[in-house]
Order: sequence, then C-alpha cells, then structure tokens
Amino acid sequence: MCGIVGYVGPQSCSDLLVDGLRRLEYRGYDSAGLAIYDGKKISVVRAVGKLQNLVKALREQPLEGTVGIGHTRWATHGRPTEVNAHPHVAGNIALVHNGIIENHLELKRQLAEQGVKFASDTDTEIVAHLIHRESSAGNDLFTSVQRALRQVRGAYAVAVIDQKQPDRVVVAKNASPLVIGFGEGEMFCASDIPAILPYTKIMLPLDEGEIGILPREGLQLFTLDGTSVGRQPHTITWNAAQAEKGGFKHFMLKEIHEQPRAIEDTLRGRVDLAATDVVASEIGLDEATAKSIQRVYFIACGTSHHAALYGRILTEHLARVPATTELASEFIGRDPVVGPTDLVIAVSQSGETLDTLVALKAAKAQGAKTLCIVNVIDSAIPRVAGAALYTHAGPEIGVASTKCFTTQLAAMVLIAVYLGRRRGTLSQERAHTILQGLVELPHQMRAVLALDDIIRDLARPLASAKSALFLGRGVSYPIAAEGALKLKEISYIHAEGYAAGEMKHGPIALIDAEVPVIAIMPDDTVYDKIASNVQEAKAREARVLAIATKGNADIGGIANNTIYVPKVDPALTPFVTTLPLQLLSYYVADFKGTDVDQPRNLAKTVTVE
Ligand code: G6P
Repeated sequence: MCGIVGYVGPQSCSDLLVDGLRRLEYRGYDSAGLAIYDGKKISVVRAVGKLQNLVKALREQPLEGTVGIGHTRWATHGRPTEVNAHPHVAGNIALVHNGIIENHLELKRQLAEQGVKFASDTDTEIVAHLIHRESSAGNDLFTSVQRALRQVRGAYAVAVIDQKQPDRVVVAKNASPLVIGFGEGEMFCASDIPAILPYTKIMLPLDEGEIGILPREGLQLFTLDGTSVGRQPHTITWNAAQAEKGGFKHFMLKEIHEQPRAIEDTLRGRVDLAATDVVASEIGLDEATAKSIQRVYFIACGTSHHAALYGRILTEHLARVPATTELASEFIGRDPVVGPTDLVIAVSQSGETLDTLVALKAAKAQGAKTLCIVNVIDSAIPRVAGAALYTHAGPEIGVASTKCFTTQLAAMVLIAVYLGRRRGTLSQERAHTILQGLVELPHQMRAVLALDDIIRDLARPLASAKSALFLGRGVSYPIAAEGALKLKEISYIHAEGYAAGEMKHGPIALIDAEVPVIAIMPDDTVYDKIASNVQEAKAREARVLAIATKGNADIGGIANNTIYVPKVDPALTPFVTTLPLQLLSYYVADFKGTDVDQPRNLAKTVTVE
C-alpha cells in the first residue's frame, strides 16, 4: 500500500504533489519522491523516511515543471532506501506504482538476459524497464504502458510520464486504487480522494483493467485491450476528513472493510495451486531444514499472540510438528530451553514490540532457527530474525489491530502448508483443499462484511453490558480470545475469551442474564461439544449470540441471536468468524462514544518491556 499523485496542467506542480502526498502519508511513509518534467528533461528527487525529508531535499534541489508524479512508499519488495524509493526511471520513462507485481522475478530474468541493469530491489522498477523497452521500439507512451502491463501479473496502480511525450500522464489500474480528478485545463490522479480534494471535487475512480491518458484537457479512458470506455465523473460530497477515512467514520471501520483486499495482497504470488504448494522462499527453510525441525515456538503479544495460537494449531495439524505458543514477555522471564532443532517464529504487526524482540534475540542466541511474521518491512524484528514472511496488510492506523490480525492468520496457513509439504506430512489432496479454500476466503469475507448493518443492530444491546464472555473451541478459541480483547480495548467493557470446555471450571459462576455470551461455533469437529457448553450457559439464563455456519438448522434452538457466516474449510473458519466480532466491538464502542481509533491507555507500537 503506497500513495500516488500525478498532475498535468498550467501550474508548477512540485508543492501541489507534495501537498497531495501529505494527505496520503497514512498509506505509507518509508520514503517519498517526485519526478517532474521541467521543459527539457525529467528530474527526480527522492528521500528515505517521512515526507518531511523529501521537502528538505526539494529545498536543496527544487523541481520546476507542470507535469509530474509523486509517491509515498510502504515497502513490500526491497528495503526502505533511497534507491528503492519511487519514482523509478528507465531511460525516458519515470513511473510510480502501488501494488505488488506477482511475476516480477520471471520478468526480471527476461530483462536481465537482454542486458538491462537494475538500480533497485523493487518489483516496480521492472515495470519501468518494460515500458522503456516498448517505448524504445517506437511506441507512444500509451501503447508502451499498455503493452508492458499485458506482460505483468499482479496488483498495480501506476502513473507514468515520458520525456519523449511530456504533455501527459498515463495511468492504469488493476486491484490497487486510482482516482482521476478533473480540473479546468488541468488533470490530477491519486491513490485516494483526499490527496486531490482541495483542487477538484469532480472525480472518476478507475475500474479494474482500465488505462487512461491524461493530457491537460481531460481523460481518454480505455480497457487494457484498447476498447474505449465512456464513463462519466461525478462530484464528491465528502469533506476532507471523511475522505481520508474512505467515507468511513473511523479508520478501524475502514480497516475492517479492507480485510479481503489485505488478504489478497498477503497471498499474492505465494499460492501455487497448480503445484499444490506455497511459494515463499522468504520463509527461509529448505526441505532438509524443514524436516529437521523438532519443535516450533510462536512468540508474540496481544492480538498477534492470538494469531500465534491459531498458528500453533495449524502447524501441528498440517505439519505434524509439536508447536507451542508463548507470550513474549513470559518467554523471556522463564529461561526457556530452545536450541538448533527448534524453529522460533516471532509474530508482530509493528515489528517493533520490545518484548517480542527481546524474546527473539534470546532464542537466536541459544541457536534456534528464527523466522518472523511482520507487517512493517525492515522494522526491528525482521532485522534480527533469520527470515521474514511479511504480511501485506498496508499501514494500520486504528490502534486495535484488525487487518493485521487476519493477514497474520493467512501467514500461519502459508507456513503450516509450506512445512507440511516439505515434511511429507500433508497430502497433496488436503494441501489443495486448504490452498483452494485460502484463495477463496476474500470472497467469503466480503459476504460477511455485507452483514455490517445486521451486526450493528445486534451490537446495540451489548453496549450496556458490564461484562461479556466469549467462548470457542479448537481454532475458534483464539478467535474468542481475540473477540474479547477487541471488545475491551475499544469499548472498555470487561470481557473474557475462554476455551468453551473450561467454562465449567470457573467462568460459569459469572453467568446470569446480564452477562452476554458470544459463542463462536462454526461447523467443525468440535461443534457438538461447544453446543453442549452453550446449552450449559443457557441453562443459567445467559443470553447467547452465536457465530455459526450458514445452513445450521439447530442453532435457533440454542442461541437467542445468530450471525451466519459462509461455510469454509473447518481449518479456515477463523477468517470468517473474526469479522463479525470486530464489527460487534466496533459498533459497541461507537454506541458508547469512545475514541475508537485511539483507545485510552493503549499504543500501536509498544517499545517498553
Ligand atoms: C499493542 C497494540 C496491540 C498489539 C500488541 C502487539 O498492545 O495495541 O494491538 O496486538 O501491541 O503488537 P505487535 O506489533 O507486536 O503485533
């Protein structure tokens, strides 16, 4: 997730592009850069870190010109360095990109064979070279971009300028967002509406597979195969603050709704259905090493710890290796026994949590193999770990983690299948079912998110509760724990997430008509057992809200209310059962009027022990 801005018109555009990037910084701030045509040539200025560093660099090397593109980066391929910053240049072409090019290695090989030299480690630079190759063959900018993108697989929004045809910006979109802004004799493009909202309210979001030419006079829009598209722009009625949150009231709600896209980005290029395998050399384990592992430790804190609980179950289930989950702060304190045949996997959205970092260092010092699952590239934890599997959730602004959590779950499935295939414990047939189910999840998750209004209504009575109990078994236990954490984090209602089988050993004493019970009970092998546990709660007058699988005919006799989720493989139910719990917590907190995005006493990144 990066931010793109582009301009063509009568104004000198350097300040305007920086101003647009400032409103896109929430999409990433690893580095930033501008490319502007000054009447003779394209010049580029880039800087590592926050946008302020680019502003400083531009003071030393000002850019003048009326056609330009800008970018703020959230790194996915290649560290956040100046050479990896966008715009990327290849000959007469400068390009900015948001997305992930799935077949970048294959394309890089082809280009290298033709003698192309690369300046960066990014997937983006490859697209710049592809366009340059087409341009050098005599094509105009539009045709060059069109022909280049036909060779590309993956997600992209691109904006491209050309020294040979400097009166235009060419843009294209597939999976990543791009909106066109229409001014008087000037045109804009951006990853998101707020970037250009001060300049125009007349906008047109591009659809999948569209490519456009932006001269000053307007937009010429086509599909990638060259068919002309006649869609009309419309007027945006949001104010700037609403626009930044994509029209949602809070970042958290926006991020909840971004999850299908975030999962797609995390899986992109990593699932090979034809080979029934996970393609992720970044996991850093060859077959012999994968076979030699005798134990897996997951270490994490908070929400990431709940993802780790799921990872443990899947690793044992699919890779048949003993696995355990540790709270990072406890792992450090208890002088653990780890060694060279152990794989220690640190899980962290920020990559900076000090407890997790210290635990990881301790494990590494004792000779364990180390891997991390992290969202922020090149943060502290991946710099220490032997290998890093990045989730590609994009920056998460809401303090209470949502999309980072579900992308961590996706990473857990990838690792378990990867290990299972290499250890010979996972049959091709079962692996195929899991991987097929995995790539279908974004679709199923969208169906759950469509229940937003129903869940909002169910949240209203919960807002007056003093305490709530979340129950789950098997893979639904981590989800019960996460559901309870989410509720307490943002609504300040006391909540417990319990393994349903443990309810009778204590929490049952709390149950009465005032304590809502939220039971996560999708169709799986433990359904009958949790159904009995919920009946026990019912017998103590509990009001039960169930999360159950669509088509469950019995649940009406057990629960007072039910949220139905689509049927998925029993190992993958957390992806669909998590979403209603996030929405429930969100709406309870919103009804209570708490500060949803920045709940009291919490921080997004915790760098104290
Ligand atoms: C903080 C955040 C939580 C997060 C935890 C672990 O407490 O508020 O949302 O789960 O840290 O963070 P990490 O970045 O390591 O996942």
